[in-house]
Amino acid sequence: MPCTIIVGGFFGDEGKGKIVAHIAERDRPAIISRGGVGPNAGHTVQTGDKTYGVRMVPSGFVYPDALLCVGTGVLVDPRVFLHEVELLGVKGRAFVDERCGIIDQVHIDRDRGSDHLSKKVGSTGTGCGPANADRAMRTGRLAKDVPELAGYLMDVPAEINETLDDDDFVLIEGTQGFYISLYFGTYPYVTSKDTSASQMAADNGVGPTRIDDVIVVFKAYPTRVGEGPFETEMTPEEAKEHGIEEFGTVTHRPRRIGTWDGERARYSAMINGCTQAAITGIDRIDPACFGCTDYNRLSKAAKDFVQKAEKDIGAPVTLISTGPDIAHIIDLRKEL
Ligand code: IMP
Ligand code: MG
Repeated sequence: MPCTIIVGGFFGDEGKGKIVAHIAERDRPAIISRGGVGPNAGHTVQTGDKTYGVRMVPSGFVYPDALLCVGTGVLVDPRVFLHEVELLGVKGRAFVDERCGIIDQVHIDRDRGSDHLSKKVGSTGTGCGPANADRAMRTGRLAKDVPELAGYLMDVPAEINETLDDDDFVLIEGTQGFYISLYFGTYPYVTSKDTSASQMAADNGVGPTRIDDVIVVFKAYPTRVGEGPFETEMTPEEAKEHGIEEFGTVTHRPRRIGTWDGERARYSAMINGCTQAAITGIDRIDPACFGCTDYNRLSKAAKDFVQKAEKDIGAPVTLISTGPDIAHIIDLRKEL
């Protein structure tokens, strides 16, 4: 599988970052490239005693030999990107496409200053919506116009396609979740762009015929930040009874928590062209599964859940996350 896309199947924050980091460590991609909206995304990666929250640099940074790219369609906030490059020590292997749209302070001010975006939609306030609006109006800036990014520019799609020509592995890291897609989500309570697998391919200039695998990540207990419909939402008290309390990586807002939604899982798997699924947070279905790395040692309750999810999704569940650390995972995929 030379080209794999990872996307979120529900409302975002499904644990894609951890799944990407695991696949990067096991399968050693030559390139890990970001698709998605921009720095509104927050991916959490925990390895040993260190926890990272990344917004621009791909979560696969933990694997030291991969190029880390930001695809053409993704918005770049130069301050966020340069800060993460410094913090993670990835200078020399982190690049943005020269045509990425740029988020300036004015976009952030417009996002936070607009009651419609900040209150009604509940945006992350990171300037993504206004920057995408400017791009559509053809008034925005591009990465190649930003002097601070001069040492980080690349033709990302060319690099990816040449790597695929050489039969090397490319991992495309999606962000956000299917149901906050501008097209397929719960409009108007959505982000400013499509978030499906096809969009992640387009963001990186990879034609549809070159994608081999689409891994859709589903959370056993889905969550949602910001406003909008959430049919299986629990009350905060019910969530607490399940021992679940979560806060956003970017905004630190409490996340709304719900139970598994088989109907939404099925529809999302269909539109994403899911070939394999990942389930995260199985230790919340049964805490006895925490940290487990062997499918045979999962409890009956956990196995029953996986089987039900598989039926809803209509594709095999090949990755099961059993805790926050990269090592807390059951990987049923074939060797590359
Ligand atoms: P925006 O993308 O900042 O404009 O926010 C629009 C909606 O999408 C809000 O409800 C946000 O909470 C949500 N959203 C945007 N990015 C993410 C993400 O990475 N994870 C979860 N929710 C997100
Ligand atoms: Mg997140």
